[in-house]
Amino acid sequence: MINVEDIRKDFPILSRKVNGKPLVYFDNAATSQTPKQVIDVIVDYYSNYNANIHRGVHTLSQEATDLYEQARYKIQAHFNAKFSHEIIFTSGTTHGINLVANGFSSLLKKGDDIIVSALEHHSNIVPWQMLCERTGAELKVIPMNDDGELVMSAFDKLLSTNTKLVFTNHVSNALGTVNPIEYIIEKAHEVGAAVLIDGAQSAPHIKPDVQKLDVDFYVVSAHKMCGPTGIGALYGKEDWLKKLPPYQGGGEMIAEVTFEKTTYAELPHKFEAGTPNIAGGIVFGAAIDYMNNIGFESIATYENELLEYATKKLLEIEGLKIYGTSKHKTSVISFNLEGIHPYDVGTILDKLGIAVRTGHHCAQPIMDYYKIPGTVRASLAFYNTKTEIDLLVEGVKKAKMMLA
Ligand code: ALA
Repeated sequence: MINVEDIRKDFPILSRKVNGKPLVYFDNAATSQTPKQVIDVIVDYYSNYNANIHRGVHTLSQEATDLYEQARYKIQAHFNAKFSHEIIFTSGTTHGINLVANGFSSLLKKGDDIIVSALEHHSNIVPWQMLCERTGAELKVIPMNDDGELVMSAFDKLLSTNTKLVFTNHVSNALGTVNPIEYIIEKAHEVGAAVLIDGAQSAPHIKPDVQKLDVDFYVVSAHKMCGPTGIGALYGKEDWLKKLPPYQGGGEMIAEVTFEKTTYAELPHKFEAGTPNIAGGIVFGAAIDYMNNIGFESIATYENELLEYATKKLLEIEGLKIYGTSKHKTSVISFNLEGIHPYDVGTILDKLGIAVRTGHHCAQPIMDYYKIPGTVRASLAFYNTKTEIDLLVEGVKKAKMMLA
């Protein structure tokens, strides 16, 4: 069980004011807030261990290296990867996707298909379009329905022996839909295709078991999980990571360099060129510890309660329409007020101290499907409360009164 009042004490930012009002932070799908247990690790790192890793024989370098590699073990354990070298540190989900897309450049050819879902963030569309331009492979799209769910019968029909890769998010950032990734992975594997899952929006709510899922690649960002920006992780099955070429060349990713020939380092270093985000990696480990201490089951139960409450209260407002009505959802509510631009609603809410995201949420194809310019998105986290939801509902009513 979550004791939300105790949890809120961990987050210094939650006691600040915005426009003279107590902050109500409902933009967690864009970035989550950071507890002091995690902030303390940033301060501790720069106060005591700051040094470059995997390079020096000196004590600081060794201590920083140990902490960084311990964080990799924490991430391995969290996602239940078989080996720690299957965890590649990245700058975030976008980096992880681009790394894989780049790697497949040498594996795809004209006549191959790759399949994406209609529910994707641009970062899980554009790198694959670029890959198609480079290789001549064709991009096919799993359509969505009015509830914001993927149409699995259409997916079945898209699959063929030409399919080499399937990629979808686990949870839609714009609508909150939880996609049936178990089914997608199983079916894709039946035709021999690899599967990449964008876990940016699922990782803050669901603890995935990558071995049980049998997924080939799973990518996440730390900053959606109470960690810092600029760091994330790519899980890849050992066989795939061995097969893919390095993404960037530089220091750290080599075994030996001469002007005639360079050989590459073993995993995971082959994909980690240059000085990494050392503090970020260590702090990502601390953020994972923090979330696991609360417990993902408790987080999911509490957030579902908030989602149900907020959905019910918001739907009591006449003219309010929610986009994304799947039964399988995380705590994301995308909505519009009839005849009112989402940006205007967001601006009034901000004046009331309430932070939401407005716009297309980097998912323009979803907005095109619904024929809308965007939505107001309230994305809730385990440190939000029903009282805050009441403030949101009052704020939306006020916006409606002022703008209608
Ligand atoms: N992808 C993030 C969002 O959905 C930034 O807001």
